[in-house]
Amino acid sequence: MNAGVIRVSPRWLALREPADAEARARDLVERLGRVLPPTGRRVIHDLGCGTGAMGRWLAPLLAGEQHWVLHDRDADLLALAAAGRPRAAADGAPVTVEARRTDLAAVQARDLTGASLITASALLDLLTEHELDRLAGLCAAAGCPALLTLSVTGRVEIAPASPLDGCVAAAFDAHQRRATERGRLLGPDAVEFAARALRSLGAEVLVRPSPWRLGREHGGLTAEWFTGWVGAACEQEIELSGRCEPYARERVRKARAGELEVVVGHADLLVLP
Ligand SMILES: C[S@@+](CC[C@H](N)C(=O)[O-])C[C@H]1O[C@@H](n2cnc3c(N)ncnc32)[C@H](O)[C@@H]1O
Repeated sequence: MNAGVIRVSPRWLALREPADAEARARDLVERLGRVLPPTGRRVIHDLGCGTGAMGRWLAPLLAGEQHWVLHDRDADLLALAAAGRPRAAADGAPVTVEARRTDLAAVQARDLTGASLITASALLDLLTEHELDRLAGLCAAAGCPALLTLSVTGRVEIAPASPLDGCVAAAFDAHQRRATERGRLLGPDAVEFAARALRSLGAEVLVRPSPWRLGREHGGLTAEWFTGWVGAACEQEIELSGRCEPYARERVRKARAGELEVVVGHADLLVLP
């Protein structure tokens, strides 16, 4: 997974962390709490951890001692993740972390031996079919539950609507599915692909919607998301750039002023071996 590496900015991850925390499906965590071993230290591997947002969200929702193994290929993000570790479990039990510089392409089943839980957040849609198949195999081999959250589904609703929204959405989805040196990315097809791959390996897979619902109080995030959304669409379809300029300027102004409401579709998967 080395070729075509896109670095994710810590500023973007910080901006989206509260909306991510609001969006993730809580009922899957309740179900997860019931299937984890009732006693003993839980070892949780967070794949593509970024700055560690998944641990900061999930660790305080689970009872019992936890050891988080944070995996990312980006050393700067990993350092932030280690510094911003979760404080305590739901019942006050200690939470420890260990940062591992990892390229997921190189992860072997033995690296996940003894895992009580595997997590990933905002990762699956960045993978190719081959990479996601491999990840499904690793989850199945680990024999523990996996909570794979916030994969984009392609659903975008913007209010007030504009006739250009549909064209931009289609071009953005095509960009998400673009061919790279590693293969074609899954983008909005990741959830369905992952669920099928994991079920074919005998796992039970629960899927829940986990959309961002951005409104007045999310102006900064909405403006940043919209800028990235239009930018990727125009990169995919160059001729959109000319048509999008006044539209994008006005939409960003509205977003900053809290006058734009946006739903961005995501889905969460709980995988039970
Ligand atoms: C969109 S960010 C999500 C970060 C974090 N999970 C969160 O929810 O805030 C995707 C993360 O996956 C990491 N990543 C992507 N592909 C990877 C790979 N092949 N090996 C290791 N890390 C990878 C990126 O460096 C980035 O930190």
